[in-house]
Amino acid sequence: MTDFVRLYEDMVAAGDLRPDPAQRAVLPEFERIRAGLAQPRRRGLFRRAPEPPQGLYLWGGVGRGKSMLMDLFVDSIGGEVPVRRVHFHAFMQEIHAAMHAARERGVADPLAPVAADVAASVRLLAFDEMQITDITDAMIVGRLFEALFAARVVVVTTSNRVPDALYENGLNRQLFLPFIALIKDRMEVRELASPTDYRQDRLEGEPVYFTPLGPEARRAIGAIWADLTGGPAQPLILQVKGRRVELPEFRNGIARAGFFDLCGRMLGPADYLAIAGAVKVLVLEDIPRLSRNNFNEAKRFVTLIDALYEARVRLICSAADVPEMLYVEGDGAFEFERTASRLREMQSADWGQA
Ligand SMILES: Nc1ncnc2c1ncn2[C@@H]1O[C@H](COP(=O)(O)OP(=O)(O)OP(=O)(O)O)[C@@H](O)[C@H]1O
Ligand SMILES: [Mg+2]
Repeated sequence: MTDFVRLYEDMVAAGDLRPDPAQRAVLPEFERIRAGLAQPRRRGLFRRAPEPPQGLYLWGGVGRGKSMLMDLFVDSIGGEVPVRRVHFHAFMQEIHAAMHAARERGVADPLAPVAADVAASVRLLAFDEMQITDITDAMIVGRLFEALFAARVVVVTTSNRVPDALYENGLNRQLFLPFIALIKDRMEVRELASPTDYRQDRLEGEPVYFTPLGPEARRAIGAIWADLTGGPAQPLILQVKGRRVELPEFRNGIARAGFFDLCGRMLGPADYLAIAGAVKVLVLEDIPRLSRNNFNEAKRFVTLIDALYEARVRLICSAADVPEMLYVEGDGAFEFERTASRLREMQSADWGQA
């Protein structure tokens, strides 16, 4: 295992990272966890009180480097203790699926055995993008984390929200409050208060709209994708009103999909809102020329762009033509002018989440 502060400084010295005082300020928290993980798990009688915090809750604005630091940390631990890095949303879906399976086997209270299985398989859980929007998640996370902490699992998580703002205005929120108390009690809560949005910086001045379609556009988009994600992607499944909406590739808040993945299926406004709420950057490839022959696809595309626009999601795309020429004839061509204008605006250097 490598000293985490040194690892960061080595990367700064090598020119891989820009030195950032706010990032530097949270490095000791990671280092403390690393040092703790190097110790064997203390159990039972010989456990000394008081318990040290068992994790780190790193929150802050978009693009500040939370996921980057967490990934660097997970990689630096790699192989020495069982670690799992997972998008929080994907993890919760697994938990629900495992609980469902246990119930089918006749287990009356499946949360405890499911949590025990997780705890048996990992020592460190690294969650990217903790956010709670779903009541089914809100009602079990308290007991779930209680069980994980009791089994001495260490949790590192990134979030855009301070713990007190989790599940804000959620249904039955009072039942959720013990979870917030648990986080504050068992995890070090730190803000990554950097003034720099590095994701925005990376995209600033870069073209984000590629036309015409072809190998050149594909290569350019592939390069941006690799630069922004910096690691292997996984599908992200969103549940919207009982439907499954799949983003085929997702990592670090960035999703990549083909036009027909999102606009060639029977998706509606609620689905596009869910997508816009789940991603910070959408890479959308192969937008074709639209006409009355693919009117439904065009209509869905308009709805998708509206949702992305409202949520100030960054869009990186490849298209058969410039925005104004994508849909020039057929019903709704007039309405498409707004979409074209939005597509233009979304290409500007300062477009994106504040
Ligand atoms: N100090 C730095 N020097 C250079 N690049 C950086 C630095 N910190 C972060 N980055 C890069 O900036 C981009 C955004 O960082 P990251 O994904 O970690 O942000 P985040 O805080 O997790 O944002 P979000 O809340 O939106 O998930 C990444 O490509 C990351 O590698
Ligand atoms: Mg992140």
